[in-house]
Amino acid sequence: MKHAISFLAEFFRNRRLTGSIIPSSRFLAQALAEPMSRCRARKQVLEIGPGTGPVTVKIAEFLRPGDRFVMVEANPAFCEILRTLCRTTLAPRMEGVEVEIHCSLLEEVETRAGFDFAVSGLPLNNFPVAVVRRILQAIERLLGPDGTLSYFEYLGMRPLLGRLRMLTRGNPWPIRSSKVLDRFLDRHQVVEQRVLLNLPPAIVRHIRAPHAEEVPPRG
Ligand SMILES: C[S@@+](CC[C@H](N)C(=O)[O-])C[C@H]1O[C@@H](n2cnc3c(N)ncnc32)[C@H](O)[C@@H]1O
Repeated sequence: MKHAISFLAEFFRNRRLTGSIIPSSRFLAQALAEPMSRCRARKQVLEIGPGTGPVTVKIAEFLRPGDRFVMVEANPAFCEILRTLCRTTLAPRMEGVEVEIHCSLLEEVETRAGFDFAVSGLPLNNFPVAVVRRILQAIERLLGPDGTLSYFEYLGMRPLLGRLRMLTRGNPWPIRSSKVLDRFLDRHQVVEQRVLLNLPPAIVRHIRAPHAEEVPPRG
């Protein structure tokens, strides 16, 4: 509850970056962490935009000693919540795990690449096209060759943007960003999953690591 209030407060402080008024449900967290739940090998996991940590808690269930877990969160207030979470509730799960919390934009983070799993909570549909492109490039740089990216968007958002694209003669940035994402998904999406038990309902997308030359072209 305390975290839900912090989240709402941060939404009013910075709507575009926060992208939602409440944290994700445990059902959405479960769907996002699903690919790593089947991994028995040592793994490196990147969480992008963990916020107050609802997905972090689920990821922690699948961490084993010897794994590496890196969180990248742009909002300093959320970084403080994450640090406390890792020191308290999640401490037993983090034993023997190499943990890093970077209070930074993903596009600017400096950390060792080669992640097997990246889980993103970033509200990509909220961002201008240049930012979406930079974020996708950063993910491509950080994922290992067999890595998987899992991220979500709110259900109905993509068709809505598609319809707006047909109705508007101009080309406002949310629509251009959506086109960049459409192209990215056409090339790399492996599977998608609807999660109705979330406010609002969401769709989770699992994506294969793109090769460098396949990062969305300009335009
Ligand atoms: C929609 S919230 C998701 C929070 C949490 N993962 C959840 O599911 O409840 C998006 C989060 O991404 C963070 N964020 C937005 N842009 C970011 C960026 N470029 N790099 C890192 N974090 C970012 C925001 O501060 C916010 O915590």
